[in-house]
Amino acid sequence: MPEIETLRLRLRHFTLDDFDDLLRIYTDTEIMKYLSPRTAEQTQNSLCNHIRQWQEHNLGMWAVVDKATGKMIGRCGLGFLADTPEVELGYVFDKSYWNMGLATEAAQATLKYGFWEAKLEQIVAIAHPENIASVRVIEKVGMKYQKHTRYYSHDVVYYTLPRAEWQPNDSLYVLH
Ligand SMILES: CC(C)(COP(=O)(O)OP(=O)(O)OC[C@H]1O[C@@H](n2cnc3c(N)ncnc32)[C@H](O)[C@@H]1OP(=O)(O)O)[C@@H](O)C(=O)NCCC(=O)NCCS
Repeated sequence: MPEIETLRLRLRHFTLDDFDDLLRIYTDTEIMKYLSPRTAEQTQNSLCNHIRQWQEHNLGMWAVVDKATGKMIGRCGLGFLADTPEVELGYVFDKSYWNMGLATEAAQATLKYGFWEAKLEQIVAIAHPENIASVRVIEKVGMKYQKHTRYYSHDVVYYTLPRAEWQPNDSLYVLH
């Protein structure tokens, strides 16, 4: 299964040993403000889903590791939007790593994987309109606003990026 190295990050597959780190992130009310904090049981289910999705599809969520420390600091990757065949970009980072450009770095690598390796025609993203940091990341990676709509029982802004409109940057991207 593919793993990716960027300048500062390693995007690797989840293992069951990631539970404690993921629980710390998924139960944090500030980090999960727009996604709803999860219980231990929900986190375990999410972790199993993160692992299973790669086995069933050629895409999924990576555990994001800070190369400098080896710490797991979040997750980023691709998944299916609600009950649709559309593939969405998603990310959650530990709050002590916010505003350092890390989500943007991981998201750019994820798009590169999605278009080059998974051969997707389009990748979408949604965010709560007040989730300024997330909307900013979506726009920084070149996605285009389409509409306000609802997914997962939340009002969201919906962005798309067709492969033909994607402009890959030349930052470090090594596929393992
Ligand atoms: C969304 C999230 C992943 C962004 O991660 P990050 O590593 O901080 O993102 P980046 O540093 O790459 O970019 C963040 C951008 O938002 C901007 N930003 C953050 N908070 C802001 C605020 N309150 N007002 C204005 N801009 C803000 C930053 O300045 C930066 O933009 P810039 O590069 O133009 O200066 C992170 O905030 C997070 O994990 N949030 C909780 C989980 C979540 O909401 N995930 C998304 C669900 S849709």
